[in-house]
Amino acid sequence: MLAEVSKNVFLFASQSKGLNKAAKKWGLRFGASQVVAGDTIESAVKKVQELNKKGLVCTLDHLGEFVSSREEATEATEYNVKTLEAIAKAGLNSNLSVKMTQLGLDIDRDFCVRNMCRILDTAKKHNNFVRIDMEDHAHCQITLDILSELRQTYDNVGTVIQAYLFRAHQDVKELKGIPLRLVKGAYKESSEVAYQEKEKVDENYIRIIEEHLLSGSYTAIASHDHHIIKKVKEFTQKNNIPRDQFEFQMLYGFRTDIQLSLVQEGYKMRVYIPFGNDWFGYFMRRLAERPQNVAFALKGLFSK
Ligand code: FDA
Repeated sequence: MLAEVSKNVFLFASQSKGLNKAAKKWGLRFGASQVVAGDTIESAVKKVQELNKKGLVCTLDHLGEFVSSREEATEATEYNVKTLEAIAKAGLNSNLSVKMTQLGLDIDRDFCVRNMCRILDTAKKHNNFVRIDMEDHAHCQITLDILSELRQTYDNVGTVIQAYLFRAHQDVKELKGIPLRLVKGAYKESSEVAYQEKEKVDENYIRIIEEHLLSGSYTAIASHDHHIIKKVKEFTQKNNIPRDQFEFQMLYGFRTDIQLSLVQEGYKMRVYIPFGNDWFGYFMRRLAERPQNVAFALKGLFSK
């Protein structure tokens, strides 16, 4: 009961425009620096270098979402372009993750698509890949529509499917052949569109992972759940799914021990590294997911 209340409080805070705006001025606080790799491209590049040395590959995410002015969206687009250039210049093993609401999706669809094309052209030039993160359910269909439009020109773009949505299995079937990151889902969604019980989400998660793997499509399994990871290992072995057809992904700062042991076992392990000053919404969603994370947030309160 208490866990449910705190989850809702954090999810509510994650969507507060006022708090998100204020937090940009505070700098990384409350222990956020343990899960956000600093607020500049330079700090993120350094982190990727460290992780690459340990055999981990990465994806960089310049934090920001639900942008409401063209200036901000253009600035974010340029920042993403710069990030891809910095990845290429430093010879990093990292791709890029983006959120389309940061690139103007809520302002003007075509403007957002043009911003995506600018990012994808830069990625193409540097032989890199861009993943469109999946945001709340209200943006799901438009994200998939834009993905299919972009895929007509670009083969270096993919997206994310969230297992908590009832529609997930059908979407995965329709996206056969497209590189997908599969996740449980991080937003607060209603019982009209999403499973509310953990068991049902987990069941659907395994179902969509197996569907995408068996269709021969490249699959990223993004979860910190050791039960899921174990099932994926068993399933891929049993079905002779080659290791270069899938990868595991985890967020920066979470379950580092498991990340490293997966690398040692010969699996591809990608770390999602968020950076930038728009850290508040991301950090609140992580607190909502796992009440234990609150402990390090409280520690951070006293250490800053
Ligand atoms: P979950 O939180 O369900 O935990 C299951 C169990 O695993 C726990 O009960 C515990 O036993 C163990 N566990 C989990 N975390 C642990 C920890 N830190 N330490 C110890 N034990 C732990 N969401 C979204 O909506 N859109 C997106 O685009 C993305 N993108 C994305 C990328 C990447 C790389 C990741 C890892 C995740 C996302 N997500 C996401 C978030 C995702 O939807 C989901 O909310 C979180 O990953 C939490 O679910 P998990 O599957 O990790 O385990």
